[in-house]
Amino acid sequence: MTRIAVIAGDGIGPEVTAEALGAVRQAASVTGLTVELDGMPYGAEHYLKTGETFPAAALDRLRSYDAILLGALGDPRVPDNRHAAEILFGIRFGLDLYVNHRPVRLLDERLCPLKGRTTDEVDFVIVRENTEGLYAGVGGFFKKGTPDEVAVQEDVNTRKGVERICRYAFDVAGTRRRRRLLMSDKSNALTYGHDLWQRTFRDVARDYPDIEATHMYVDALAMQMLKDPSQFEVIVTCNMFGDILSDLGAQLQGGLGLAASGNLHPGRVGMFEPVHGSAPKHAGKDVANPMGAMLSAAMMLRHAGRPEDAGLLEMAVLACVREGRTTRDLGGTLGTRAVGEEVRRHIRVAG
Ligand code: NAD
Ligand code: IPM
Ligand code: MN
Repeated sequence: MTRIAVIAGDGIGPEVTAEALGAVRQAASVTGLTVELDGMPYGAEHYLKTGETFPAAALDRLRSYDAILLGALGDPRVPDNRHAAEILFGIRFGLDLYVNHRPVRLLDERLCPLKGRTTDEVDFVIVRENTEGLYAGVGGFFKKGTPDEVAVQEDVNTRKGVERICRYAFDVAGTRRRRRLLMSDKSNALTYGHDLWQRTFRDVARDYPDIEATHMYVDALAMQMLKDPSQFEVIVTCNMFGDILSDLGAQLQGGLGLAASGNLHPGRVGMFEPVHGSAPKHAGKDVANPMGAMLSAAMMLRHAGRPEDAGLLEMAVLACVREGRTTRDLGGTLGTRAVGEEVRRHIRVAG
């Protein structure tokens, strides 16, 4: 029995999550997996109705599951997106999910915005630190709302936090063909926090002599990701840079609608979500691409010890992409639900 907590969230979140869950159920019926999918109501609607964002008890409940699947959070009716921050960061920080594992994998040459790139040439992982950096929430206002206002947002980098994300990234690099890891920072300007990244990365690298460890400043990396993405295998970077680079990486695969992620703390329950947000302008129109959510669900199943089910989901998404049975963002003509049906059909046929 695999128990999954589901927070579908806002905007297109519920639509893409419904199709991802449909694919999970279909795979389960093929492999014989028993799966319990427990929905949780947290999101903008729940917040506006009850005033509750994400209660402490919910976090405790989440710990009892094998995995968490999240759609997206963010709703124009909550302009400061308070609920989104409390739920998303509540889970990432509350469960100490210090890894944000974001694969960049081109499924079909046709989808790459770069000329002449093959699927082999766009296949790397961004390992984003997920619990500190500029996201730590340390800072404050001084003289808020006056002409003399000051806003401070601290960049928190701890030896322990940087070391554990570097170790995770070296371990991932060890599973890859070229055994190559690149650390990216801005240590030429951020002379304290990213000096710590430099020293920590070098120290950890000594424990992994068979991994080729290299470095690029983040501005150069953004350029190189477009110029020649084939040089990368695993990239490790801080929270903020990882956020920005993973949207760039998403577009290298064909768009945000395809990009998947896992928020992890090895050995503990993980939270899986598409890289995209709630895309409010697409909500309720049956146009959102559910494949990023499906590939996140596949990552979740693999992580929960169900590689066979994960493989079925990945195979079915790949088949639909290759056949052009996709939503419009990928050049197809189908709606969200029709893509879900196509993916389920592929899983059924394979079973
Ligand atoms: P977004 O990712 O929601 O959307 C940006 C654009 O990308 C969309 O307008 C759309 O054109 C495209 N897109 C994204 N997902 C798509 C999909 N599945 N299918 C087809 N096209 C898709 O980013 P945004 O507009 O900057 O943010 C909207 C809200 O989502 C904000 O409130 C933001 O804070 C939030 N957000 C939440 C998460 C999360 O919950 N993990 C992640 C990113 C953004
Ligand atoms: C992401 C999102 C979030 C982040 C937002 C919604 C706070 O952009 O998961 O990439 O910045 O981490
Ligand atoms: Mn982001």
